Amino acid sequence: MNSKITAIGVYAPSKIIPNDWFADKIETNNEWIISRTGIKERRFSEPDEYTSDMCVKAVQNLLAENPGITVDGVDFILVGTTTADQVMPSMASQVQNYFKLPNTGCLDIMAACAGFVYGLILAKGLIAAGTHKKVLVLGAETLSKFTDYTDRTSCILFGDGAGVALVEASEKLKIFSGVTGSDGSHGKDLYLSQHASVVNGEQIDPNGKIHQNGKVVFKWAVQTMSQKVRELLSINHLELEQLDWVILHSANLRIIEAVASELNYPMDKMLTSIEQFGNTSSASIPLSWDLASKAGKIKPGNKILLLGFGGGLTYAGVIVEV
Ligand code: COA
Repeated sequence: MNSKITAIGVYAPSKIIPNDWFADKIETNNEWIISRTGIKERRFSEPDEYTSDMCVKAVQNLLAENPGITVDGVDFILVGTTTADQVMPSMASQVQNYFKLPNTGCLDIMAACAGFVYGLILAKGLIAAGTHKKVLVLGAETLSKFTDYTDRTSCILFGDGAGVALVEASEKLKIFSGVTGSDGSHGKDLYLSQHASVVNGEQIDPNGKIHQNGKVVFKWAVQTMSQKVRELLSINHLELEQLDWVILHSANLRIIEAVASELNYPMDKMLTSIEQFGNTSSASIPLSWDLASKAGKIKPGNKILLLGFGGGLTYAGVIVEV
């Protein structure tokens, strides 16, 4: 059985943090942040608002904006997140409990900013296996709770948000073959520590905050993502010109521009959420989709390439038809 994305929903906290918010905390300014990242503002969750709350709100928004769609019959929930409320229970189980969904498989995916696309690929596999028919795929993060506000090279990047796709069985092929992979040798270049103070035999800071080697991640992302776009097109026997839109993870506008330039693909067909929401990790792709959808850009029949990448360093990409 094939599968399709039936609907998308998002949630972003109401607290807007403009670039000037950082000016009295670290040595930075609005111009530097915009010119080096493309970010104008981001959203921060309230102190008592957690990733599971944002997952629930994204699903509620999907239901409110898509009359006729219900969660009845959802048989699997996948949540991409690196900022879960706690290690267990999973965020997926908390969504299951909120909506009282019986007989629903629940699993969190730890693939950093690629988590949402990993979820779509896994949902396609569950439906293709014939064991499942209706899957909620979420990407949700409260990065603001894990940000080191003394590190000016990383703290200006991150924001909070959540997105969800309802994936259902379909007669027609609407979610094409995906690509996945990881280069674990880059473990220390982007990490959020917990108990251990060593990654790949190398010392890391065990302070429970996000750390990154921005330059290394930037270079890896541009090279690898350009290759992966070509690979996705090749395995699906499609040409770049047949894509209506590309949604690359919104990590930094300059990464997106560099990939577009490398591919010779028009920047106005690269959909992003970086300007309004910053880097929201696994939530960035559904947030970009939602912004474009509400702006009237995405139309039925459009083909969209989705490609996430992040800590691992890992990536997942897939082409979908709306
Ligand atoms: N405000 C002002 N100046 C800053 C700054 C800030 N917030 N952060 C760094 N700088 C300074 C640096 O200290 C450096 O100064 P120097 O030249 O005197 O040494 C200068 O700006 C340039 O720093 P550099 O690190 O070369 O900037 P950059 O252009 O590489 O941008 C990042 C830094 C982090 C924005 C960029 O590397 C990046 O986005 N990398 C990818 C990160 C990412 O995507 N992570 C998540 C992946 S999912």
